[in-house]
Amino acid sequence: MQDAHDSFRTIWQKGDDDGVVQIIDQRELPHRYAVLDLVRWQDGVDAIRDMAVRGAPLIGATAAYSLYLAARHSDAPRGEVERAAEALAAARPTAVNLRWAIDRMLAAGRAASDDQLAAALRREAAAICDEDIEISLGIGRHGLALLEAIAATKDGPVNVLTHCNAGALATINWGTATAPVYLAHKAGIDVHVWVDETRPRNQGSQLTAWELAERGVKHTLIVDNAGGHLMQHGLVDIVITGTDRTTRSGDVANKIGTYLKALAAHDNGVPFYVALPSTTIDWRARDGVAEIPIEERDPGEVSHVPGMLDDEVVVVRTTPTATPIGNYAFDVTPARLVTGLITERGVCEASEAGLAALYPDEARL
Ligand code: MRU
Repeated sequence: MQDAHDSFRTIWQKGDDDGVVQIIDQRELPHRYAVLDLVRWQDGVDAIRDMAVRGAPLIGATAAYSLYLAARHSDAPRGEVERAAEALAAARPTAVNLRWAIDRMLAAGRAASDDQLAAALRREAAAICDEDIEISLGIGRHGLALLEAIAATKDGPVNVLTHCNAGALATINWGTATAPVYLAHKAGIDVHVWVDETRPRNQGSQLTAWELAERGVKHTLIVDNAGGHLMQHGLVDIVITGTDRTTRSGDVANKIGTYLKALAAHDNGVPFYVALPSTTIDWRARDGVAEIPIEERDPGEVSHVPGMLDDEVVVVRTTPTATPIGNYAFDVTPARLVTGLITERGVCEASEAGLAALYPDEARL
């Protein structure tokens, strides 16, 4: 049965106005649902860099629509698209979907005549988004089988732990790590999610918690360091996270802190799965620790915390002014700590052979 959340989208063209693309401004959640207009391609760069949109698939989709806007609003569209592509690719370094989407859009642009360029790019961006929804649903169906298997072995809820937001807000809809949870919830399985807060940007407490609450899925917010304790006490049945880049050998880069969850899961015999669309696989990279660029972000994200006070969002500093800060946004979990990869084509071992069996054409690269 369809419900309002089935038609949820994180990015769309504004009504009849084909010159404007709209996004949910995720910096405002969970306090306010705000929609932001993207008109110039530079708006797309800002939205990605400042994290109005985030999450690997949505970053790619936003870049795709930004390239369309570059062509739509320029008198010299081919040069403008090239310039936009360069700036968009540099907006955030870790999620490989960004480069993937840009390359796909540039190929679509090359195949189009000058007067059809903008229309062709608009179609391609829309196709990327529509396909992302199908991909998330594919991940959801394969992940659902894992949750069903756990449900069959126990009384009480299936306890899933997740880190960051690999949810509907990180994709076009459904999410990657959350798709199995949403399908399980719809299927009537008793499912409960432990939501890691995910410092410093709090994607867990601000975004994952918001979307689980919107969809009526049982969840509990925990601080980032609680996962190991919960696993020691048998309170986590499965960990499912997303990823920003997965190497051909199955190493996964994801939000900082994911690696520590994988270590704790390994020590406690808790299955640790990573959900990913094939657009997140970097077939050129093999050794994740050596080859995946890790974004370092503004120290202000660590020293300052936003929150709601008397109906207004205020930002406060929590650290001494003289203390130097490191803000590493992602880490790499080696394949040996990953129980399996949940893709749109099925669940596989986190290894070159596992991925190649599902994606033989891409693996030949
Ligand atoms: O910095 P963010 O919020 O873009 O990081 C997002 C994540 O780490 C997600 O887990 C990842 O992009 C997968 S999204 C389906």
